[in-house]
Amino acid sequence: MRELQCEVGGDLWTATDIGIGPPVVLIHAFPLDSRMWRFVQVDLEPSRRVISVDLPGFGKSRSGSDASPTIEHWAGSLLQALEHWQVPAPFTVCGLSMGGYVALECWRQAPQKIDKLILCDTRAEADTDAQREARAKFAQEVLREGSKVAVTNMLPKLLGATSMADEPELIEELQAWIERVEPKSIAGALQAMARRRDFKDQLTKIECPVACIVGAEDQVTPPVQMQALAAAIPNGSCRVIAEAGHLPPLEQPTAFCGMLRRALQI
Ligand code: MLT
Repeated sequence: MRELQCEVGGDLWTATDIGIGPPVVLIHAFPLDSRMWRFVQVDLEPSRRVISVDLPGFGKSRSGSDASPTIEHWAGSLLQALEHWQVPAPFTVCGLSMGGYVALECWRQAPQKIDKLILCDTRAEADTDAQREARAKFAQEVLREGSKVAVTNMLPKLLGATSMADEPELIEELQAWIERVEPKSIAGALQAMARRRDFKDQLTKIECPVACIVGAEDQVTPPVQMQALAAAIPNGSCRVIAEAGHLPPLEQPTAFCGMLRRALQI
């Protein structure tokens, strides 16, 4: 596994790069990092070049500015980083939740570079006013009391009921990952998500195939919402993974990788 690094607009971008073949770019959820794709990397590696990025402020990537990021800025910088790393277009972009917001924004900025989108446990709608208020409150609490607040807030949302009951090691691992994220990165991502663009009216314009994948027990972006998202896209499809919540690549890796391979026609 190679580690990629470059500076874009003052931010340090890092990614892992494994395998040979048509490129697939993986974008993680909030408030996690590229480690959430560990099973996917190994599974796809024999037939795909898999680039798993850390968004600035997460994993090994660093944000170079105190200003809050935006999803647009992240997507634009990611496209520049991929160019810097000589990742040839077209590539597939696969994002989960917050990563899905960035994936949609990559498509908006450079549709010609993307041959396929894989949208996992995410949504096209912008936040409502109530959701924005809740994010602002959450961000203030994290800045005041530390990243532990994010563990309490996010863990029950990230994992489905099955994993909460059966996966104590995964619970501990996610807890450790989230606790290590700097509060200002968590607060910045919350602001970025709160200010993101609404893609509802753009969906009919997406020409490339879009495979949606969602956990049956996902409460953040439930299957019914993902099915509606897929139905609004001309070449969209949706598959539901049993006994998974918001993080199927970690909760049900075998089923998730199978669906991903199917979407990639491997
Ligand atoms: C995520 O998992 O990335 C977040 O739950 C997304 C969100 O809060 O909108």
